[in-house]
Amino acid sequence: VSETQSRLRLLIDDYFTTSFSTENALVNEAVRRMLTAGGKRLRPQLTLLAAEAVGARAEDHVAIATHLELIHVATLIHDDIVDGADERRGVTTVGATFGNRIGVLAGDYLFAWIFATVTANYPAPIPHILSRTLAAICDGEVLQLRSLGDLRIDAAQYTTIVAKKTASLFAAAAECGARCAGADPRLVPALTAFGEHLGIAFQILDDILDLTGDHAIAGKPIGHDLIEGKVTLPLIMALETATTEERAQIAAFFTTSEAEQAPVVAFIHERGGIEQARRRAERCIEEAEQALAPLTQAQRMPLLTFAQTLLSRPPTLQGDHVRC
Ligand code: IPE
Ligand code: IPE
Ligand code: MG
Ligand code: MG
Repeated sequence: VSETQSRLRLLIDDYFTTSFSTENALVNEAVRRMLTAGGKRLRPQLTLLAAEAVGARAEDHVAIATHLELIHVATLIHDDIVDGADERRGVTTVGATFGNRIGVLAGDYLFAWIFATVTANYPAPIPHILSRTLAAICDGEVLQLRSLGDLRIDAAQYTTIVAKKTASLFAAAAECGARCAGADPRLVPALTAFGEHLGIAFQILDDILDLTGDHAIAGKPIGHDLIEGKVTLPLIMALETATTEERAQIAAFFTTSEAEQAPVVAFIHERGGIEQARRRAERCIEEAEQALAPLTQAQRMPLLTFAQTLLSRPPTLQGDHVRC
C-alpha cells in the first residue's frame, strides 16, 4: 500500500469516526463493526484519487467518497446473505451475527439512508450515477445467481456479470470523484473508464484468490465460489481445453452436494486456468492505464500506482484496525 493510499485511508476513516451516524442504532453498530474489522477502502480511495487527479483537494471530497464505501458495505451485507458466507473482514458477517432477517433490513436501511443523504446534498448527476450503479450491481448479482453451475458460461458472459456486479461501483467511484471535483468534462469519461477496467481486473483477482488465497489474510471464506456453484474465470479458462469426460466430471461436481472440490481445483491449476485468468487481469489493468491517455503524466502517476497495487495485493488485506 502506497503512502498516498495510507493518507487517503486516514481521511476516510477519520470521517467515519467523527461524522457517520444514522438514526438507526443497529445499523450504526453493524456498519461500525465492519469498518473497524478492516477492509481496504479501495472505492473511496479511487474517488479521492480521481478528485486529486483533476486538481482538487482530497479533504474537500471525503464525504462523497465515504458514500461509495457505504454502498459497498451495504452490498456486502446482502452479498454475504445471498452467498451464505459467515465471515467478512475477519469477523462474523452481519447476517451471521444478527440473523439474516435483520441483515436484509439493515442493508435496505443503509441503502435508503445513503440515497436520502446523497439526493439531499449532491447535484445531478451524482444521485443518478449512484442509483443506476446499485441497479447494475443487483443486475450482476442476479445474472450470477441464475448462471450458478452453468458450465456453458464463457469469458464474455463472465465479464458481463463482473462489469455489473463489481466494475460498475469502481467506475462510479472514479466518476463521482472527478465530477464532484469539477473536472474538465473531457476527463470524466477517461477516469470513469479507468475505474471500470480496474474493477474488472479486481474481481478476476478476487476470483483467483478464492482458489489460491489464505483465509487468515482474506478474512472471508476461501474456496467458497466452487461450493456456491460460481463458474469463475480460472475455471472457464481451464474448461476451454477440457475433454468431454473432464467436462462431465466437473458438471457432476456441481450437481452432487457432497462432491470433493480438490480435484476441480487441481484441474484448474493443471490446465493453467489461474495463469490465464491472471494474464487477463493484467490486460485489464493495462486497459485501465491506457484509458488515462487524456490526462497529463503528473495527473496519471498516483492512479497508475493505485492500479499496480491491485495486482500485487495479498489475498485481501483486512486493513489496519481502526476505531470507528
Ligand atoms: C469484496 O471487495 C467484494 C468484491 C468485489 C470482490 P473488497 O475486496 O474490496 O472488500 P474490502 O472492502 O476490502 O473488505
Ligand atoms: C462481489 O462478489 C460481491 C459484490 C460485488 C456485491 P463476491 O461474492 O465474489 O465477493 P466476495 O468474495 O464475497 O467478497
Ligand atoms: Mg460473496
Ligand atoms: Mg469472491
